[in-house]
Formats: sequence, structure tokens, C-alpha cells
Amino acid sequence: MGEWRTVCRVGELAEGEGKTVTLGGRLIAVFHTQGTYRAIDDTCPHMGASLSGGYVEDGIVTCPWHAWRFRLCDGVWADNPRIKIDSYEVRVEGEAVQVRVNPSEKGAKP
Ligand code: FES
Repeated sequence: MGEWRTVCRVGELAEGEGKTVTLGGRLIAVFHTQGTYRAIDDTCPHMGASLSGGYVEDGIVTCPWHAWRFRLCDGVWADNPRIKIDSYEVRVEGEAVQVRVNPSEKGAKP
């Protein structure tokens, strides 16, 4: 099932903004976009840039280093669907934005 963890407060991230959090031993990028919150792996699989610093438009983040583009809803590389990074469930509980990390996922620690 996984555990919900608070990653920021509602209003902390402006529309189109992202931040990096560490959950379960993983770096996760949390974004506020299109009126909702999304979470995907923060580390770009190309050369390791932090995706939370990328440009966000139309539900897609563009890596700040070499412009690989990932869908925020599911982590799929927008230009080559065979490549995908992990995405995470996000919910808002009151003023808290929470991400669920499954401890059984690869690399995750309880
Ligand atoms: S490090 Fe992300 S595209 Fe190169």
C-alpha cells in the first residue's frame, strides 16, 4: 500500500513550480501544475539533472540540461514512450500535500 508523507503545504509551490523532496530514500520531484499536484522521480535518466528545476507546461516537465520531456501524470518520456520514470500518487489533506511511496518499490526504504 505505501505510506502517505507530507511534502509541502498548499500554497507553498506556485503554479508551474517544482521542488525536490527525499522520501523512502528516493529523490522525488513534486510539482504544482494545472491546479493540481504531481510527483515523479527527480533524477533525469539521461545524465542526472534535477527535474524539479525544469520548465513545466501542459502537464510536461522539460529537463533543464538537455530538454528531455516527461509527463507529470505518469513519468513517461513524452518523446519516446518506451522510457519511463516512476510516478507517485499525490493527495491534498487539509493544507498538506502528501505523496505516497510504496516501500516495496526498488530502492525505497521503509
Ligand atoms: S540530464 Fe536530463 S536531458 Fe540530459
